[in-house]
Amino acid sequence: MRQIFSRIVSFILLTSLLTTTLVAQRRNQPNVEAKINALIARMTLAEKLGQLQQLDGDFPTGAGRPEHFEMVKKGLLGSTLNVRGAKNVNELQRAAMQSRLKIPHLFAFDVIHGYRTIFPVPLGEAASFDPKAAEMSSYIAAKESRAAGVAWTFAPMVDIARDPRWGRIVEGAGEDTYLGAQFAAARVRGFQGPDYSRPDRVLACAKHWVAYGAAQAGRDYNTTDISENTLYNVYFPPFKAAKDAGVDTFMSSFNSLNGIPATADRWTLTDVLRNQWKFDGFVVSDYTSVMELVNHGYARDEADAAQLALNAGLDMEMVSRFMNQNGEKLVKEKKLSMATIDEAVRRILRIKFRLGLFDNPYTDESLEAKTLLAPEHRKAAREIAAESFVLLKNDNQTLPVRKNVKELAVVGALADSKEDILGSWNGDGKAADAVTVLEGIKNKLGPNTKIRYAPGCDAKCEDTSGFDKALDAVRDSDFTILVLGESAGMSGEASSRSDIDLPGRQLELVRAVAKTGKPYAVVLMNGRPLTINWLAENSPAILETWFAGTEGGNAVADVLFGDVNPSGKLPVTFPRSVGQIPLFYNQPSTGRPFDANNKYTSKYLDVPNTPLYPFGYGLSYTKFQISNLRLSAKQIAPNGSLTVTADVENTGAREGTEVVQLYIRDLVGSIVRPVKELKGFERVTLKAGEKRAVTFTLKPEQLGFYNAQNKFVVEPGDFRVWVGQSSADGLEGSFTVK
Ligand code: GLC
Repeated sequence: MRQIFSRIVSFILLTSLLTTTLVAQRRNQPNVEAKINALIARMTLAEKLGQLQQLDGDFPTGAGRPEHFEMVKKGLLGSTLNVRGAKNVNELQRAAMQSRLKIPHLFAFDVIHGYRTIFPVPLGEAASFDPKAAEMSSYIAAKESRAAGVAWTFAPMVDIARDPRWGRIVEGAGEDTYLGAQFAAARVRGFQGPDYSRPDRVLACAKHWVAYGAAQAGRDYNTTDISENTLYNVYFPPFKAAKDAGVDTFMSSFNSLNGIPATADRWTLTDVLRNQWKFDGFVVSDYTSVMELVNHGYARDEADAAQLALNAGLDMEMVSRFMNQNGEKLVKEKKLSMATIDEAVRRILRIKFRLGLFDNPYTDESLEAKTLLAPEHRKAAREIAAESFVLLKNDNQTLPVRKNVKELAVVGALADSKEDILGSWNGDGKAADAVTVLEGIKNKLGPNTKIRYAPGCDAKCEDTSGFDKALDAVRDSDFTILVLGESAGMSGEASSRSDIDLPGRQLELVRAVAKTGKPYAVVLMNGRPLTINWLAENSPAILETWFAGTEGGNAVADVLFGDVNPSGKLPVTFPRSVGQIPLFYNQPSTGRPFDANNKYTSKYLDVPNTPLYPFGYGLSYTKFQISNLRLSAKQIAPNGSLTVTADVENTGAREGTEVVQLYIRDLVGSIVRPVKELKGFERVTLKAGEKRAVTFTLKPEQLGFYNAQNKFVVEPGDFRVWVGQSSADGLEGSFTVK
């Protein structure tokens, strides 16, 4: 299996070597700007407003709606979402080619973690701490998408999320800015490659711009109110990383940010994106978020909403039609200039040229059948899923389970759910393609193992009538795999939870299984951290598998029975209690940092400050030791850099992979700095007994931050540095910036 993985990775490395030259060529095609301006000069206002409009196709069939055909023939609709499948796409594109100016239509779809081959949900994939895996899964998703006629994906979602009540935490890379930036760039590289006009690449979209994950109370679509300085230091960097990786569209978010709805925020849409970052792609609204400016109480009516959005710097309106239907009136009333409309059209046409749609608007229909769900895609999905799992607990080497186990019970409805294992936002994934945990276990074990399956209860687990049957299976078996957690629908969009315990009465089921005294292990399927305190205290083994995708069941079996040694690390903190939220590792100290011997310090009366499981934590079937930390210098200049090296040894009995992590602390700053910040990580695979030196380089871009004036600075002063296996441990060193 690994040779498939490494072959595709080396292919990616080769293509990325081409990045600079080809990107430069594609981005600066000769006389494209002249072609765009010539087109704009010929377009009517109605045709221009048509390019600023995206409408929603028929999701179940993937076909364009009848009214879409009429509009594109007249050049009055520039893009649709959810129209997909090469035949459907070519049919609507042919209609567009009948228009006066033959401006190609742009087809978009939410390909978040796979098109037809579904990979682990992004939060799970982030747990691999393997950006190359994310680049590969995004590349495979791009190949499948483009073969199905989709040229634009609304991904990667790069929202930092520090509140696990928020259902969309499942869609991103978790709480950490540095990790989020690495995955943002990797996913953009995977989707777009060096030249996204190629038939195996798609246009990517950094979303949701911006700070959507900071929704107050973790309630989706809720208000966000955070300082500009926190935006620059925490929420912007993954978007900037996506932009620097070449992403050519952004999507504005639903939320209001510091009183201004993001879909009409001139500061973020124009000052930051255009003037500071020099972004030359286009910004699409989220689904009806232009219309929602009225609900926010920011726009008086449709026309007001349209001019606020366009004048702020939004370019394309998704689904609602305020810009399209009020543009002409607004121009007449001089509330909107033709120059503003032309600039929005220019940005959209520029990307359609970069996509190569003017040269070739159609999709080769022979590609789809042989590309979707190709065997090598499934193999990659299985390998990446196994890398995403986090071993949270494994007392007395409960796991891996012996393959010659005679009688095995598998309990839990999630163990046999083809729908749930695909997770939310699962593209065009088909439940029928999915391998469940139960199927994966059956595929793994021979005919000599008797497997008993009992659901116990469904994911909601309000009805316990199935408990007895499940407990009978447990009592009659030598070992039990207990699959618990959330249904796919309990996370994702519009799926926030105020309580993040195991749903319903699942805990009663676990306690009853434990009471039988028979050995068991818990497999978690979930889209967010859960407050699993009882499990952490009492269950012998816990494997976090998130929603592992089409090959999820096989990947779970690979890890459960030891063919793969788990290596994942938590990309997000697991709190003990929802009352601790927001709880994330890289918080400032406060003036009264926790002191167990002093009542008057920052703590609760009823719960420790520490998390149940910290960011960066994850176990292995082997053991690793980090030693001999050494720095290349004790002092560096503000523009200098230094290397930090430590030895990593596999002190256990089997090969394994450790994610070695580098953290820093800037002890004194012109604004208070976090007590720890991730600034490097490396996956190190070692044979039993093998030791290797791992070296990180700290440069100004890792040591600096945005100061109170939102200027990036590296300030002189003392730093701590750690090399460890999570955010809660590590060998400590120090250095000074002179
Ligand atoms: C949804 C989501 C966004 C998605 C869009 C199109 O509401 O917020 O992430 O890309 O609509 O489906």
